[in-house]
Amino acid sequence: MAEDTRLIHTGETGKPLVKTVAPPIQKGSTVLLPNAAALYDDDHFQTYGRQGLAAHDALKAGLCELEGAVGVALYPSGVSALSGAMLAVLKAGDEVLVVDTIYKPTRRFCDQVLKRFGVSTRYYDPSQSPQDLVASAGPATRLIVMESPGSLSFEMQDMAAIARLAKARGILTLADNTWGAGLIYKPLAHGIDISVQALTKYVGGHSDVFMGSAAASDPAIAKALDDGVLHLGWAVAPEDAYQMLRGLRTLSVRMARHGENGLKIARWLRTRPEVVEVLHPALPGASGHDLWARDYTGTCGLFGFVLQPTPPEKVEAFLDALEIFGLGFSWGGFESLAISCDDQLRSRSHRRTYAGPLMRLHIGLEDPADLIADLERGFAAL
Ligand SMILES: Cc1ncc(COP(=O)(O)O)c(C=O)c1O
Repeated sequence: MAEDTRLIHTGETGKPLVKTVAPPIQKGSTVLLPNAAALYDDDHFQTYGRQGLAAHDALKAGLCELEGAVGVALYPSGVSALSGAMLAVLKAGDEVLVVDTIYKPTRRFCDQVLKRFGVSTRYYDPSQSPQDLVASAGPATRLIVMESPGSLSFEMQDMAAIARLAKARGILTLADNTWGAGLIYKPLAHGIDISVQALTKYVGGHSDVFMGSAAASDPAIAKALDDGVLHLGWAVAPEDAYQMLRGLRTLSVRMARHGENGLKIARWLRTRPEVVEVLHPALPGASGHDLWARDYTGTCGLFGFVLQPTPPEKVEAFLDALEIFGLGFSWGGFESLAISCDDQLRSRSHRRTYAGPLMRLHIGLEDPADLIADLERGFAAL
C-alpha cells in the first residue's frame, strides 16, 4: 500500500487495552462495527460515539451508584441537565410548578423557552405546605420542580412529602439537588422521580469543568431522559467525563471537610454583632433544621447570612477587603467564595424581606482559622 494509506491506518492494532485503575479516555465519533450485519443492529451494537464511550460509561455507572438510579443521563452543564430533563417529560399544554427560589437560569429557561413551546410555569413559595402546593395543581400540571435548600436563601422544602402527594395525583417531581450532590441527600430514595445536579459543583470539586446529570430509578423515566439527550444531540467530552469520575471518587472526603469547615464558620458568624441571622439548615436552631436533620446525612459548605442593615457601599467594602475568599458565583470547588445576593432576589415572585443585606459564602478546604481571620478583615472594613 502507498504511504498515505499506511499512515492513515497506522495504529489500528486491535490489541486489547491493558487494564488500568482509571478508564481509558477513549475518543471517537466513529465506532467501527465488526461486520455488515452489525451496522444496523442498534440493539446489540453501539454504532456511534456521541452516546459516550469508556469514560462516560464509567462515570454513568458511578453516578448510578451514588444516586441509587437505574439510569443517569449526562449533559454538558448543570443548566442543560435541568432544561434537558424538563424537555424530556413535558409537552405543549402542560403546566410546571417551580419553586420560587430556583436557580435563576432555570427560571429563565421556563419563562423564555418552555413558554414558547406552550408549557406554562407557576412559581410557588417554598414555605407553602406540601398539601397546599399539590392541592393547587390543576389537570394540566405535569411536573413539580424543587430545590432544597434554595442556593441563595436556603429555604428547605419537605421534598419527600411533596413527592408522595404528587405521585398520588400522577404528577412527576424533579429536584435540583446540587447542594446535596447525591451524597448527603438522595432524592430518588425519598420518592422524587428525577434527581438533577450540576456536577460542575461538588462532584467536579475543582472549579474547572462543566457537566450536569439527571438520574431516575424508574426505567421509563430513565429512558425518556436518555432519549431527550439523543434528540437534542448533546454530548460531553471524554476528558471531562474522566475528570468528573476522578472528582466522584473523592466526593465524600471533600464533602465532609466542606461541611465541617462551613459549620465552624457558620457558628462563628452567629457570634458576630454585624450578623442578624445565619441561613444554614444544618445549624441547630436555624430555619429548616428539622427537615435537614430528618432527611440529610451531612452538609456541604454553602450557606448564607443576613447582615445588620447597612448601605451597599459597606457591603462592597466587606467583600473587597477579603483576601482568601474569592468573589465568584460558582461553588463546590476546593476554594472559598463570597457574594452579595440582593441583586439576584429581584426576579422572584414571592419576595421575602430580610433585615439587611443577604450574603452567601462557599466554604472551601482551607484552614477555617484563616477563613475566620479573612472575614474579620471584611467586618473591620464594613
Ligand atoms: C443550584 C444550581 N443548579 C444548577 C446550576 C447550573 O450549573 P452549571 O453552571 O453547570 O450550568 C448551578 C450553578 O451555579 C446552581 O447553583
